[in-house]
Amino acid sequence: ALSDGERPLAEWTRHALAEVEELLAATLRAPGDPFLTTVATHLLAAGGKRLRPRIALLAARFGDPDRPEVPRAAAAVELIHVASLYHDDVMDEAATRRGVPSVNARWGNRVAILAGDYLVARAAELVAPLGPAAAQEQARMMTRLVTGQLRETVGAGRDADPERYYMRVIADKTAALFALAARLGAQAAGAGPEAREALGAFGEAYGVAYQLCDDVLDIAGPDGRAGKPAGADLRQGVATLPVLRALRGRGRTPARLRGLLARGPVTDPGRLAAATRLLRRSPGLAEARAEVARHAGRARHALDALPGSPARAELIAMCAHLAARASGTG
Ligand code: FPP
Ligand code: MG
Ligand code: MG
Repeated sequence: ALSDGERPLAEWTRHALAEVEELLAATLRAPGDPFLTTVATHLLAAGGKRLRPRIALLAARFGDPDRPEVPRAAAAVELIHVASLYHDDVMDEAATRRGVPSVNARWGNRVAILAGDYLVARAAELVAPLGPAAAQEQARMMTRLVTGQLRETVGAGRDADPERYYMRVIADKTAALFALAARLGAQAAGAGPEAREALGAFGEAYGVAYQLCDDVLDIAGPDGRAGKPAGADLRQGVATLPVLRALRGRGRTPARLRGLLARGPVTDPGRLAAATRLLRRSPGLAEARAEVARHAGRARHALDALPGSPARAELIAMCAHLAARASGTG
């Protein structure tokens, strides 16, 4: 149940998210081009948690949250997120997303890539009126997003420490956008530099915890979570943290896993099931779960610099929820 202090926040957030939804629809309407409008709204129409806009809106509560710039910031980060999913599903050859056919599955790779570019362009248009500092932060975040994705694609070289490499990849491909959501929301609301810094640090740590949680659930979670099949990372040959940890050591399990994963992507269903079974009882999985909790704790700690408020309490609750989800209790 919500306390009196929290009820107005929940109501405000619901209202603000509805406004963001309207702005998204209005932004993506391509006049005279119903096909582009359909393709561009495909994943947004299919659902999604609107987690990044929600973070932008909560961050805006540390300034004047009713400024007209705030929904623009929140809508922009969702557009960038969806754009990255359009491109990601091309790269990962994913057939489904959010319980519907991916854009690439439905209209092909060329349309999916261009529609993703269109979403990025629209996001830039939303951010431009927020000023040059916001536009620069957005551009820098995009650089990290693309860099992280490229590093994941080429993989760690022989000289790199695989776990350090992996942590850098997820900071860039996932956490950078969470940090932008928090910073842009605060900036759009005219929050002071201290709040912006604290919220940026929160977003960065929360984003790392979020991606690690996603990686844990890809192994330990139910099939069909978020409308996509489990085991996707193994099938793509992406060695996530639970896998890297499980491969460490000299026991029988690491050796058998090494045998199963040696040839890169695990496409054979029997091998995938065997690898998943081994991973589920490996200490690597428990260690990865502990890492989710650790990074969620860092995110929580970053909020210490902010004044107490219902918005801060909500962000703290999100950290706790993430750790619980990874541990299988949330
Ligand atoms: C999902 O990861 C993908 C990302 C977090 C980032 C993808 C980034 C790009 C494709 C860079 C280019 C982006 C733009 C906007 C130009 P995942 O595949 O691990 O997660 P999933 O299980 O949700 O597919
Ligand atoms: Mg993917
Ligand atoms: Mg991917």
